[in-house]
Amino acid sequence: MIEQTYARSGKILVQGHRGALGRAPENTMPSFELGRNLGADLLELDVHLTKEGKLAVMHDPDVSRTTNGTGALENMSSGEISALDAGIGFSQEFAGTRVPFLGEVLAWAKGKIDLAVEIKGNPFPAEGVEAAVVDEITRYGMEDNVVVICFYHPVVKKVKEIAPHILTGILYTGRAIDPAAMARAAGADSIRCDWHYLAKEDVDKAHAAGLWVSCWTADSEDVFSRLAEIGVDSAGCNYPDRFRKWLDER
Ligand code: G3P
Ligand code: CA
Repeated sequence: MIEQTYARSGKILVQGHRGALGRAPENTMPSFELGRNLGADLLELDVHLTKEGKLAVMHDPDVSRTTNGTGALENMSSGEISALDAGIGFSQEFAGTRVPFLGEVLAWAKGKIDLAVEIKGNPFPAEGVEAAVVDEITRYGMEDNVVVICFYHPVVKKVKEIAPHILTGILYTGRAIDPAAMARAAGADSIRCDWHYLAKEDVDKAHAAGLWVSCWTADSEDVFSRLAEIGVDSAGCNYPDRFRKWLDER
């Protein structure tokens, strides 16, 4: 996993947030391709377990914000999900873009780019999602190229119990008293926080505990500077090109 390898090298990795959500429909193949082309070192995406046991790549539990459909994703069949148009809200070139399933993204990413796979739910992640995610990652031989992340730390813990060799991260927001202790409780390898709440002290303590540190979402120069100052290892970006340019020019 490139993120872990580069941790504390002084280099900040650009993590394309839902691909490149500022430039293309989020969590779609065009968004992942664009994110990579715009200089992302790794790509972040969100997954939900459907009633058929498939892992659909989408942020919200409901399809209405990001597609032309309505209703809860978890109750839809694969056929219904594949019939949705996720290419809305951007130019016509994205019209007809499908909602991908995790396997499709893993197959595309293999040998190209690392992934941060975030487990979502409605609101809690569905029972059995941890094993489903691990199975899919293993099926595509991507165990060394993903980090599995979640706001629900018991889910992170379960992933680690099922697959100790797969890297994980706890997501959290707000100023935590001891993020490193939270990570330890979940057996996680990284801490990942909304940058607004991340202090240098948290980063230093996480590093001292052997964890690496990521955050979201960095889209302006003042934020890039702040993140460089506090020493994060990677940052989620809606416009990966902006952070890449800033990093290349500094
Ligand atoms: O990488 C974590 C970040 O994406 C969490 O927030 O709402 O974009 O999933 P959200
Ligand atoms: Ca996410």
